[in-house]
Amino acid sequence: MDHNPFREGLSHTRRADPVTVVIFGVTGDLTRRKLLPALFALYRKGVSRLGVIGFARRDWQTEGLRQRAGEILRDAPDATDEQRAAFVNQLSYVRSTFDETAGYRELARQLPKDGDRLFYLSTPPESYEAIIRNLGEAGLNRPGGGSIRVVVEKPFGRDLESARRLNRLLADYFDEQQIYRIDHYLGKETVQNIMLLRFGNGIFEPLWNHRYVEHIQITVSERLGVEGRGNYYDSAGALRDMVQNHMFQLLSLTAMEPPIDLQADSIRDEKVKVVRAIGPIAPSELDTHTCRGQYSSGYSDGTAVPGYMQEDGVPPDSRTETFVAIKLFVNNWRWSGVPFYLRTGKRLRRKVSEIAVTFRTPPLELYSNRHPTMTRNTLIIRIQPEEGITLTVNTKIPGYTTDMRPVNVDFAYGSAFGESTLEAYERLLFDALVGDSTLYTRRDEIEASWRFITQLLEGWQNSQSRPQLYEPGSSGPHGARALPGGAGHRWRKL
Ligand code: BG6
Repeated sequence: MDHNPFREGLSHTRRADPVTVVIFGVTGDLTRRKLLPALFALYRKGVSRLGVIGFARRDWQTEGLRQRAGEILRDAPDATDEQRAAFVNQLSYVRSTFDETAGYRELARQLPKDGDRLFYLSTPPESYEAIIRNLGEAGLNRPGGGSIRVVVEKPFGRDLESARRLNRLLADYFDEQQIYRIDHYLGKETVQNIMLLRFGNGIFEPLWNHRYVEHIQITVSERLGVEGRGNYYDSAGALRDMVQNHMFQLLSLTAMEPPIDLQADSIRDEKVKVVRAIGPIAPSELDTHTCRGQYSSGYSDGTAVPGYMQEDGVPPDSRTETFVAIKLFVNNWRWSGVPFYLRTGKRLRRKVSEIAVTFRTPPLELYSNRHPTMTRNTLIIRIQPEEGITLTVNTKIPGYTTDMRPVNVDFAYGSAFGESTLEAYERLLFDALVGDSTLYTRRDEIEASWRFITQLLEGWQNSQSRPQLYEPGSSGPHGARALPGGAGHRWRKL
């Protein structure tokens, strides 16, 4: 693995090798929102001599791509006009469908002979196969002067079988070390901090197990609806769109054993064990361990919003879930018997991503009878917004009595470091440029998560049930409340 200054917390003391990034699907939304801004940031910081070639079907020319890039980057923070012009003027464009071999010949012609190459697959997944095969057939998968890497965007498959097929196809042309399956949650600063918090401090790890932890909640809620992505979303649903990838990453970082070192594979070895240990949910448990919801029409921030079934691209009788809550168990020595509650959904009350670890009550409840406000200590890792960590502790209210009240011990990234956190894509692209795959998903991790998810999907399909409707701006469907209720636990307020 190359030297990675981000990992070591240093400024860019060494550059990545010169690299050409080829973005397949450069005309798409992800390029506009994330990839170009991130590449430009890396370019400005001088982390590498960087060239970018866009490859897409749309009838653009190099000039058109440059002009659009100029517009996209117009408001890039801290950038000068010279930097912008220099970045934009090195962009070039290959116009081709993804299965036309001539397009790949043209790409080969435009690629510099030396230096590294990073192929970024940012197209709809239906095109992955053509791109991977054609890169292989054109010999572009074979290292010449430098290394070759390929980044694959989500969705990576739609069930276990399709994920396996895609993995096999990739393996026909690339080594596992060259394949970077992206999950942008791993690029978030606070997500990386989960491991640091756990393994860089002495006080948490002794408590981080079934003896002291009562339950763990992982929430990723959003206020927005499907935002014009109805077509894609309806074939995915919340389970595929959020749980299989982002939420399982949060779960495995929270539940994993300490790695033997910080090498990419040492970390991923431990993460995959967590996913493998998740107990399957039997068909008879679907009602008690899962709850699906779909947002109805209503009001969000006082504005009338359509229901999911009225969104563009969504069939009027869709059964796709826009909310899901799951109760699961990680059946290993550390976590045996500890429920993990996961919930995610669109059009909910608040946008929040957090992990809340709730600890057991003291062995002798000296105070609880008289003081109903006493709460269980909870450690909350806030991923967004307001990244930080909060620990709730019970404290004495000043006065003659022993009345108590929970207070928060707070750490906020913003105020502690006074600088904004790195954009996830910038961090992840940097890692791919220097060949560090720690924050990317390995083949076995993806297949293990799809194994669990596919069983659930099949269970739901066989049950013929529909998601429950919930109102925009709410905390999700009523049925979700009962999920932790059986054990006397409650969801945290959204
Ligand atoms: C994406 C999903 O992967 O993550 C979207 O496809 C979702 O549906 C998004 O909105 C959430 O990401 P973030 O970073 O805004 O929490």
